[in-house]
Formats: sequence, C-alpha cells, structure tokens
Amino acid sequence: MPDKLTNSEPVAATTETVAPAVAPGPPRKIYSIVKYGDPILEKPTAAITEFGPELEELTEDMFASMYAAQGVGLAAPQIGKNLRLTVVDVTAGKNPEGKIVLINPEIIHAEGEKREEEGCLSIPGFRGYVVRPQFVTVKAQNAKGEFFEIRGEDLLARAFCHEIDHLNGILFIQHLSMLKRDLIRRKIKKLRKQGEW
Ligand code: NI
Repeated sequence: MPDKLTNSEPVAATTETVAPAVAPGPPRKIYSIVKYGDPILEKPTAAITEFGPELEELTEDMFASMYAAQGVGLAAPQIGKNLRLTVVDVTAGKNPEGKIVLINPEIIHAEGEKREEEGCLSIPGFRGYVVRPQFVTVKAQNAKGEFFEIRGEDLLARAFCHEIDHLNGILFIQHLSMLKRDLIRRKIKKLRKQGEW
C-alpha cells in the first residue's frame, strides 16, 4: 500500500533531523515494483518452507524497496516472487519497531468495519474506497520460522488485509464496484497503449 492514505497521521515538521529515519546497514537491493497487468499479481502464492538468513536478507531488501517506493506494505508477488511473504510498516521507517514481517500469514480474527481510501504500489495513480475490518488478528511466521500472532487496528488492519489479499492473488480494485474497476482498467489500458504503464 502506498502511504498516501486519508487516515494517515500528518507528519510534524522539524528542523532537528539528527538521525536517519532508517538505521544504517548493509546496502540493500532495491527491487522494481511489478505493475498491474503482470499475471504474477493475480496468482495465489506458494507457502514458504525454508527459513533462515537468506529469507531474512530478502525481507530486509523488501523493506528497503518498500521505503524507496514510499509504501507502507509490500508483498512478494510485487517484486516478482511467488512466495507467501509480505512486509508492512505503517510508520514508513520512522520506528524500527514498526517493521512487521509476515510469512505464511492467515487472518484468524476480524472485527468491525471501516471504509477508507486505498491504493497500491502496483497500481500507481489510482485509488478507491474499500471496506475492511477495523481490527484483525493475523497468525504468521517470522524469517526464523517462529509462529506469532499480531493484532492490527485501522490503517495497520487495512495494510494486513491488503497485503494478505496480494498473497492470494487479489488486488484492491477487486473490492471496488464493477463500474469503478472497469474505469480504472480502461484508463490503464490506455496508459499501456501510450507506453506509460
Ligand atoms: Ni498493494
């Protein structure tokens, strides 16, 4: 999900930038983001069965790619990988504790409803209102293969749902009315003809 959400907190202006937003580390691979139209985005992903340092490296590269694209969530199919893996950070790299890796995630509880505008790094320039649960609990594994549960509210719940949808081959436009979805599809088709997609 891109960060331009209607319910995102305004960022306080400051002149005292003393520390970088993201702690320095080894240089990261920045993946380009797969755009709508690539069939990988509409295919369910394969469960991850091998855990360890290589997978950890991949998740860090995904965070770096997500921050570079100014997103708050990135799923493996969006970098061309058919893996049941997604990273989420609704703090946009401002808080290291905001980094969430979800491997083989499943929503085990959902509650309430919220309708907010949503977008996707793979469908740049298009947005739409989507109803999502206000609260969700996700069960997932980390890069070491350890199981954990995490609860999200509002934007975090929305990000979990949006990213887990990606892992099931579902894009946010599939939650829009047929009219709105067709309008977006037609505009993308036109952009593609013009070589702008
Ligand atoms: Ni997306």
